[in-house]
Amino acid sequence: MSIAIASDHAGFALKKALVEYLERRHVEFLDLGVRSEERVDYPDYGYAAAQAVASGQCTMGIIICGTGIGISITANKVRGIRAALCCSEYMAEMARKHNDANVLALGGRVISPESAEKIVEVFLNTDFEGGRHAQRVQKIHQLTQR
Ligand code: RB5
Repeated sequence: MSIAIASDHAGFALKKALVEYLERRHVEFLDLGVRSEERVDYPDYGYAAAQAVASGQCTMGIIICGTGIGISITANKVRGIRAALCCSEYMAEMARKHNDANVLALGGRVISPESAEKIVEVFLNTDFEGGRHAQRVQKIHQLTQR
């Protein structure tokens, strides 16, 4: 498993905490920035992480902005990406089990690093259930083929 991780300035502190978490857990990752709290535009970073996942370079992505909203909207513009903005472990579990989400979006100004670590842990370790959910995910995919 290889994780593409990226944030804007508002998500920088949480990204730093999650990079340390991934290192502790020996999870391979690709850090696509940012490298400081200097103001940037979240679409640039959301797109970079989404592309890394869509191209197959990384298995999954973690993207962070202030609320997680802007960066998740961005990532969901990339074909093949199912980005889920989660603020609880339950949402992360459902995002994987029911939506087969391949990118986790978080709000650096919304949740604590401790909470984010738990959400990431669930996201990375929960499998898609398939079955009736596969048919629904397929319908989402078909929307991008029109
Ligand atoms: C940056 O101030 C903020 O707008 C951005 O991080 C994000 O929350 C947008 O959705």
